[in-house]
Amino acid sequence: MTKAEAAERIVLLRDQINDYRYQYHVLNKSIMSEAAADSLKHELSQLEAEHPELVTPDSPTQRVAGKPLEKFQSVPHVVPMLSLNDVFDKSEVEAWRNRLVKLLPDFDDQFYVEIKMDGLAASVIYENGLLVRGLTRGDGYSGEDVTANLRTIESIPLSLRKSKTVPAEVYSGRFEARGEVLLYKQEFKVLNETRAAAGLPLFANPRNTAAGTIRQLDSKLVAVRKLRFHVYGLATELAGIDTHEKEHNLAAELGLVVESHSQIVKGVAGIMAFAEEWAEKRKELPYGTDGLVVTVNRNDWFRRLGVAGKAPRGSVAYKFPAEQATTRVKDILISIGRTGAATPFAVLEPTVVAGSTIQMATLHNESEIHRKDIRVGDTVIIQKAGDVIPEVVASLPKLRTGDEKVFKMPSSCPICGTKLVKTDKEAVWRCPNQNCYALERGRIIHFGSKGAFDIEGLGEQTVDALLDSRLIADSADLFNLTIDDVAGMPRFAQKSAENLVNAIQERKDVALDRYIYGLGIRHVGAQTALDLAEYFGSLVKFRNSNLEELQDIEGVGVVVAKSIAEWLSGKQGQELLEKLDKAGVRPRPVKRIEGKLSGQSFVITGTLEMGSREQVGERIK
Ligand code: IVH
Repeated sequence: MTKAEAAERIVLLRDQINDYRYQYHVLNKSIMSEAAADSLKHELSQLEAEHPELVTPDSPTQRVAGKPLEKFQSVPHVVPMLSLNDVFDKSEVEAWRNRLVKLLPDFDDQFYVEIKMDGLAASVIYENGLLVRGLTRGDGYSGEDVTANLRTIESIPLSLRKSKTVPAEVYSGRFEARGEVLLYKQEFKVLNETRAAAGLPLFANPRNTAAGTIRQLDSKLVAVRKLRFHVYGLATELAGIDTHEKEHNLAAELGLVVESHSQIVKGVAGIMAFAEEWAEKRKELPYGTDGLVVTVNRNDWFRRLGVAGKAPRGSVAYKFPAEQATTRVKDILISIGRTGAATPFAVLEPTVVAGSTIQMATLHNESEIHRKDIRVGDTVIIQKAGDVIPEVVASLPKLRTGDEKVFKMPSSCPICGTKLVKTDKEAVWRCPNQNCYALERGRIIHFGSKGAFDIEGLGEQTVDALLDSRLIADSADLFNLTIDDVAGMPRFAQKSAENLVNAIQERKDVALDRYIYGLGIRHVGAQTALDLAEYFGSLVKFRNSNLEELQDIEGVGVVVAKSIAEWLSGKQGQELLEKLDKAGVRPRPVKRIEGKLSGQSFVITGTLEMGSREQVGERIK
């Protein structure tokens, strides 16, 4: 190959490799495999080795520089890298917006909202279209020159992509973009797995790892870590780029990766709708985030608003509701469930977690409390994720005063006074008194719950009210309630009484599996109830079954069969079945239908748009 031929080939290879990079990082499209791209890079580096005079600073082979640095140089920022003030809820967003309107009477309420990425801020500087420098934020006024490290990050183009729709001055002058250096969650996981396998200490989180990596003096170490760079704004003013949105679009046009989950919204309502959407969805992002950045979209207005302290007035960071908080344990009490299980829970100093006030958190069982060493009076970390019951994650023993009390499980049921019992195999203590008020209450709540009779409006508070008014003593009594009965209870109006009684009456027509599940027999979950309903086909046959027969059913083990047989032969169970029958509750058989889905298994996991896992399971069934 002549030198001229090599020069031509080199240009083509660089264009192809750059296009691969652009499509992959900016457009999320893969036009060839990584292996194929590596092969092109290999050919390019061989040609460049033969013709070193043809190497250019923006060649894809120039991403890893030579020798490790002695130290980083400090370089002043042409435009300071500011920080943002935080807001935590709607009222603070409103207050911020109202301050803006005072300063900008003709403000159009247009905000640009984007994800606040959890990495570290950096700035990339191009001259005549070529990457010449990369800086960390530093103290905001000058940062460290980490150019060699940033050059190893593939999502940063070494030269700006040529585009006709971009102001020409971009390619002939200085151009500076700012963004966040990130380590994706997946790559962090792989990195730690590799470290674990090699017996190395693990990294704490992706953010710290990214920050630590950028501080490496040897850029070869940086190159293996697969960092990313996502742009959130420009530090160069350009003709025609008069909104924050246009800054984003321009950066993408130039081949930079921009934070892409952004949107123009109107007013506080628009901001809050976006915030609610992302409070959950953020878990699906490949990188960490703890909030949003909200910015006045028009750049002239943004500039006019100016800076207060270290933060621009025209932007705020909206923080998602924290899923963890600290509070004090005022007491540890016991709740008795429908199976008699005595579950300790913490009574807390009320505190807001993930947007709701938490006053109680489960402690699971006695050994959990001792394992986590949670004492009455302790300051603890509590956590609430999604719809899950709040729990105590850990205590903070350093904050103890000495007045804290170690928890001791009470020896008797706090409701009926019966001695609690515990079998060796179990971690839980139980109240053995089947007539205990707490057990009956739990059974009625279970009876009306979603997977069982699914009685709308029969929540815990209504069950308490019905029991307190002595209108019911067990689940079967629900069907004898009249509208007058219910309307006579405190805090019940005629309409809500009608609704409740109608909802109960409607459920006289119930499928056999729900009926069986609703009985609350220990070890009989929704699936076992369905197996039983399908096997027996009718309530009569189920009632007349015996231990041997039960044990024959697929999916029913010895423990479950025993529990069912005991329940069916017990006085309490028989009475309940009689009463339900007298009240006119006649469960309808469930038939197993053969079809396309017969015999298939489904795994329902992740965040679902269709509803809860139970609802989706129900629909599949
Ligand atoms: S705009 C004046 N947008 O958050 C600073 N910042 O708390 C303007 N960050 O230092 C920053 N994602 O490192 C902006 N989409 C985003 C961001 C973002 C993360 C970081 C950035 C900044 C800090 C401010």
